[in-house]
Amino acid sequence: MASNSWFTLFLLVFVLSVFAVDKNNFKTCEQSSFCRRLRGITEGESKYMLDLETLQVGEDTIEAKLINVEADIPFKFSLTAISGNIFRLQVDEVSPLYPRYRPQNALKGEPQVTKLEVLDRNKESITVRSGNNKVAVYSKPFKLEFFEKEQLVSVVNGRGLFKFEHYRSKPKENDEEGEAQQTDEDPGAWEENFKSHHDSKPRGPSAVGVDVAFPGAIRIYGLPEHADSLALRTTGSGGLEPYRLYNLDVFEYEMDSTMALYGAVPVVYAHSPKGTVGVFWHNSAETWVDIKNSKDGNVMSSIVNLVSGTKTDNSVEAHFMSESGVIDMFVLMGPKPKDAIRQYASLTGVAPLPQFYTLGYHQCRWNYNDEDDVTNVVENFDAHDLPVDVMWLDIEYTDGKKYFTWDPIKFAHPDVMINNLTATGRKLVIIIDPHIKREAGYFLHEDALANDYYVKNKDGSVYEGWCWPGSSSYLDFYDPKTVDYYKGLYALDKFKGTTHDVYIWNDMNEPSVFNGPEVTMPKDCVHFGGLEHREVHNEFALKQVIPTYEGLIQRSNHRRPFILSRGHFSGSQRYVTIWTGDNAAEWSHLAASFPMCLSEAIGGISFCGADIGGFFNNPDTELLQRWYQAGIWLPFYRAHAHIDTRRREPYLFNEDVRNRIRTALRLRYAHLPLWYTLFWEHEITGDPVIRPLFYQYPDDANVVDIDKELLVGSSILALVISEPGISTTNVYLPGGFSEYWYDIEDFKLYPGTGVYNLPASLDKNIAFYRGGSIIPRKDRPRRAASLMHNDPFSLYVALDSKKSASGTLYLDDYQSFEYKNNKKYLYIHFDFKENTLTSKLIDKTDYPTKEWIERVVILGPPSGIKGAKLTSKSLGTVELETSYDGEERTLTVRKPGVSVREPFSIKLY
Ligand SMILES: *[C@@H]1O[C@H](CO)[C@@H](O)[C@H](O)[C@H]1NC(C)=O
Repeated sequence: MASNSWFTLFLLVFVLSVFAVDKNNFKTCEQSSFCRRLRGITEGESKYMLDLETLQVGEDTIEAKLINVEADIPFKFSLTAISGNIFRLQVDEVSPLYPRYRPQNALKGEPQVTKLEVLDRNKESITVRSGNNKVAVYSKPFKLEFFEKEQLVSVVNGRGLFKFEHYRSKPKENDEEGEAQQTDEDPGAWEENFKSHHDSKPRGPSAVGVDVAFPGAIRIYGLPEHADSLALRTTGSGGLEPYRLYNLDVFEYEMDSTMALYGAVPVVYAHSPKGTVGVFWHNSAETWVDIKNSKDGNVMSSIVNLVSGTKTDNSVEAHFMSESGVIDMFVLMGPKPKDAIRQYASLTGVAPLPQFYTLGYHQCRWNYNDEDDVTNVVENFDAHDLPVDVMWLDIEYTDGKKYFTWDPIKFAHPDVMINNLTATGRKLVIIIDPHIKREAGYFLHEDALANDYYVKNKDGSVYEGWCWPGSSSYLDFYDPKTVDYYKGLYALDKFKGTTHDVYIWNDMNEPSVFNGPEVTMPKDCVHFGGLEHREVHNEFALKQVIPTYEGLIQRSNHRRPFILSRGHFSGSQRYVTIWTGDNAAEWSHLAASFPMCLSEAIGGISFCGADIGGFFNNPDTELLQRWYQAGIWLPFYRAHAHIDTRRREPYLFNEDVRNRIRTALRLRYAHLPLWYTLFWEHEITGDPVIRPLFYQYPDDANVVDIDKELLVGSSILALVISEPGISTTNVYLPGGFSEYWYDIEDFKLYPGTGVYNLPASLDKNIAFYRGGSIIPRKDRPRRAASLMHNDPFSLYVALDSKKSASGTLYLDDYQSFEYKNNKKYLYIHFDFKENTLTSKLIDKTDYPTKEWIERVVILGPPSGIKGAKLTSKSLGTVELETSYDGEERTLTVRKPGVSVREPFSIKLY
């Protein structure tokens, strides 16, 4: 969806094709009082001191009084050992004037604590140990050092930037003589203006911040959502703003920017071949993070130091600055990327297994005009043999932007339209935004007024802002009664016209307010329980999607919900899919789709995609085709377009274009069993579904800045081509000589020795299977994923340099919770060695599937094979046909015919 409608209008009328964010609409750090205050702290000895005389040592936690030496204000400090190599550092006020806020839903539950042991204790410091990790806590200056084994990996408050602004009463402006008091406070500390907006700050300054250094690290990643490279850049120098985390609807956002976007995931990972450490900054208020990344400094010296083992300077750092809340940070001790990311997932949770169809292709547009339009689009996809699973309706399906209603003329028979759609195996997703039209007679608005469901102004009146419907108010998802009511709205008998096959898109939930400060809700608005919007802002979208998720479960407990959300926060992965919002039809935006989704994936949110073709403006056919080709390697695969763009459904183009897009779509669909298996494995392990190269090859310093490539699980390496008019492209294949990579189209073998320059015509889909993996596919072309449930599998066995491979396959009924409730699933391990492929069940479960093995394709096969023998319990031993193809690049074993349900072996001879 787009953003500021006044701006849309303005741009349409005056600057038609100029694409650029209006930066003036958004604050810089310098324009934000708290960012100025915290960034202005002089480096040096910390003004805070830990009073170790008050130290209390518990089973899993140490606690002590922390004192602001300048103001003599006591804080409570605690350090807790959390299961799985995590430490939690918390600082809060002892007796705050107002309660300090902690996010309610980022954590999946209370983290599980584990034993902590005191190693050493004296007047100046205390050293504790948990597992392989050690923390030294220093009293004066206050500082913490984290050690993995004996290696110093992180220093908290090493630069002395720790700050905790306690709540206090506002100093009187005038003394009795009416003379202004001298104060050295920041002029925006107690109230602040931005453009025409006034923030009244009734509770005054309340910021928290601290610096964290990562000795020895060479890169730092994380902090989605930004339209920037995967490796974070050094801020400050060269005028680069700190990375800002403040969920905003940024109209026509631009590339290579640290500006805030729709989502906020405050986690970083500092990485080097020696190890990886993460920090999760658990805070939902506006946050800025200054970064120092050695990639922008003297990289060679850190690499040389790495090799020579000499101490490096602390060249990778993060300085977290939040407007309010408490200091609650989790140090994820790694030691490898995989460990640190699992540690983060153990705190904030994982995405539950989605339905199979959600991994297919989604066709969206603002807007499909009416019921016939929806029907025609699907018919055209069918007529041109282009698979599609989901049709989407943007805001225009509603009756005057009143959510939970249908336009009475254009969508007069939603039930018939939906039945027409679902009869061919398709689903529908419709938009439901959190702003509510203030219109007399609109049931939702009347209910909200009557029952007090809305967010309030600071004076207690209902807050009104502008959004799509014009004057709107905003449901307060912090109020339990609003949440209950909202869940009920999704019920089939309440939301008339919908069926079980209709799923939900929660957009504009940053929240977007066209006439609000920075296009969002004023910070002094008030939520249930007296919470200021300031405290909860980045969590608001998550608060909306929880009742949506629960509403869909309540509606139908035998279908897994599917919800797309634009705003997001740590923990959103437990409920929603996200996408990179309103991008543009530009090559740079196609390029950014990889690092943006990779950043989300290591931030726990794997189910991510970017609007194919670009939301704003019209892509030329070259860009559109490259986008369809690259997009198949991101978990969420949806085309979307602005209302002012030309229609661009793939069947509208000439045969060459159509054919290439069909090939890409079919590649996507062929790999759905792999995607589905990876989502299952994500749910049980927390491992991201798509991975940056440094995740899989942490020892390879060459991969740390690669943004154009990603890994799908551990078995596919994909490349985004993001330049026009090229005929060759460079691709880096990692892993060294013994790592084999096979082109997924012609199966040519490339050892992982670095950079290859490869042909890259528009006809070429560039991706590689990693030797050593077995990729489950379904190769029969279908119109939709839902029609593939019973199709047989083809196993692509990509042999490594030792002529072996292994892989997994997960399957179930592809839609219900039976896999969870009654263990109705199959999780299968395939292994190939000594010329024999074997399968066995990983879990002792069953699912009565009809799926069977249709083919086995061996890449890099042994030579001289004459035949194959299959052995299984029900089939006994059967002779199978084999043939070499493509100059012996592959060996195909035809029609094993065995059910995937029973263990089997196939021996080549
Ligand atoms: C449903 O499909 C029928 C048969 O193709 C068609 O005549 C009708 O217009 C469709 N109705 C809607 C509401 O899409």
